[in-house]
Amino acid sequence: VSYDHHHKAGNLGDVFKHVALIAALDKTVVSTRHGPFRYADVFAGYAMNPVEPGKGQWEKGIKRIAGEALLKGNPHVASWARGWLNADGRAGATYPGSSWFAKEAYARRRKRIEMWLWDTEPEPIADLRKQFPEQRVHIFQRAAGRNEPGIRHADFVFVDPPNKKRWEEIHELVQHLDWPEEQSVLIWLPIGANTRLKPPIEDGKSIRIREQSGELGMCATRVLWAKGGPMIGCQLLYRVSLVAQEATREAIDAVAKNVKCARDGFLEVCHFPSCQEVRFPGG
Ligand SMILES: C[S@@+](CC[C@H](N)C(=O)[O-])C[C@H]1O[C@@H](n2cnc3c(N)ncnc32)[C@H](O)[C@@H]1O
Repeated sequence: VSYDHHHKAGNLGDVFKHVALIAALDKTVVSTRHGPFRYADVFAGYAMNPVEPGKGQWEKGIKRIAGEALLKGNPHVASWARGWLNADGRAGATYPGSSWFAKEAYARRRKRIEMWLWDTEPEPIADLRKQFPEQRVHIFQRAAGRNEPGIRHADFVFVDPPNKKRWEEIHELVQHLDWPEEQSVLIWLPIGANTRLKPPIEDGKSIRIREQSGELGMCATRVLWAKGGPMIGCQLLYRVSLVAQEATREAIDAVAKNVKCARDGFLEVCHFPSCQEVRFPGG
């Protein structure tokens, strides 16, 4: 069964993913002097997703978080919310994908942009082509190769696969990026539960992935929002400038406060290394 992000758009995974992407990218764009800034999205998905009442996971994500308070606090959370909040402060008829948020981040800083987007499925590719007819957006219906120009010359690489199965390829891709010279990278991955332990904890593969990415000089933020079920949270792995790292963590912490208000339940945000833990024990 092929993966279709329309169903998942606007869920809690997207909330943390897109806030982190906007913060990390904004700070990287600001500190990059050359132009155009080059952005690569290896699993791009749709540029825009429909949001319909009674359908899809947005009802447990952005629908519960929506409110004008999002526009008044952290600037990166506000930028994210402006992408989908209606004038009445509720979730709108659409929710953007990562490439749309990325393009907005450049536009806000008035930077010239060149984008490389990959996806293997025809539907997201058709949507990306419709939304981004510009010459400077290169769209490919296939998997990205680590040696191709769009990856080798990217200033920022965003990696958002449908699941953890592609970790070995992703690890290899990150190994071949230039750091600390040029290339920033942000990866989002889901976290499942190890249900053999009571209470369940995160699955072993997620822990191993975080350790291996640490060996590649990456930092991580783990967000857990459930204690059981197929997906208990997500993690963001990032190798970005210190300024971008701080902004990413601040934006994640800021949006987590809104999630806490809206869900009134368990939520745990943990930053690695120098684990500045922010815990919200819930009822
Ligand atoms: C999690 S979704 C992307 C969501 C998007 N980045 C966003 O934030 O809105 C993962 C996407 O990867 C695509 N995909 C699956 N396998 C792929 C591969 N080997 N190379 C590129 N894209 C792939 C799927 O079609 C799907 O659209």
